[in-house]
Amino acid sequence: MRLQQHAKILIIDDEPANILLLQRLLQQDGFAALESATDPRQALPLFTEFHPDLVLLDLHMPHLDGFAVMKQFKSRIPDGDYLPIIVLTADVATEAKQQALAMGAMDFLTKPLDHAEVRLRIRNLLQTRFLYKEVQNQKEVLEDKVRERTADLEQAQLEALERLALAAEFRDDETGQHTQRVGVRSAMLAKAVSLPPDQVELIRRAAPLHDVGKIGIPDAILRKPGKLTPEEFEVIKTHTAIGAQILSGSRSPLLQMAEEIALTHHERWDGTGYAGLAGATIPLPGRIVALADVFDALTNDRIYRKALPLEEALIEIERQRGRHFEPELVDAFLQITRAPERAETFLKRVV
Ligand SMILES: [Fe+2]
Repeated sequence: MRLQQHAKILIIDDEPANILLLQRLLQQDGFAALESATDPRQALPLFTEFHPDLVLLDLHMPHLDGFAVMKQFKSRIPDGDYLPIIVLTADVATEAKQQALAMGAMDFLTKPLDHAEVRLRIRNLLQTRFLYKEVQNQKEVLEDKVRERTADLEQAQLEALERLALAAEFRDDETGQHTQRVGVRSAMLAKAVSLPPDQVELIRRAAPLHDVGKIGIPDAILRKPGKLTPEEFEVIKTHTAIGAQILSGSRSPLLQMAEEIALTHHERWDGTGYAGLAGATIPLPGRIVALADVFDALTNDRIYRKALPLEEALIEIERQRGRHFEPELVDAFLQITRAPERAETFLKRVV
């Protein structure tokens, strides 16, 4: 039978005759995994090594009584585990029983032992123990599944956002590399100005969506090779509000940040940007993406002009310190571009 094959039983009793009797009874019932000790000082090491499913424990023993042994066991039984301890005693005093129950005993067997009672109590408590374990296992399996599904869902959301950023960028830059570079560089800038790691990660994921509103701009204006008329430029400017609208109303912190970035990435530190916000009234993620976006635009060919050489682009960014960009961010930016190990990642794919 399954119960007997799997159950491990530990017997602690200073009377060898009692141990022998219990072993014989249990073996007759088919239990094979039995351990025992007549010295209660061996109880804890045996318990730790053997991991019993049930303990039969004498109360009155030299050196260490049953109460002290239970106290030792208690610290080793994980929270929420169900480990039946049956106390063997001739002592039927109510007080002793109450104390044993308080210490974690589940049941009592009174000496001299009644064989049929011993068998029944052990079997009942073991059945409870194994049912309990089964429920615990199922709970763990379910929790694992929930974790797995949640991770899948998060991954799917991130992928959907990446694809949305790609869709927006597709008409400008068919490789989608611009959005990725803006993400990587924005995260590096965020880290350089000491934003906490979770914010850095949000910026990395949200920044690529900064131009998602370009979806709503007609090709004739977006891809116009020549100079834009003032009216056309007004249309281009709406891509910030369109982007924010597409991303608005979400409970996700990632989308909330993406919305903020979409709305404010064309603001300038000196207040001459699209909506005229200035200085610290522009949200920091917007300030960061503004710099990363302009730097990438300067160092890549655009439909209306050729890329600038890296040195000239760096000079231009520095020139915009306190004008287009926040001074502290320009300093962080220049520091990164001068530090060889960070510059390599930061300037990747700069032509
Ligand atoms: Fe933009």
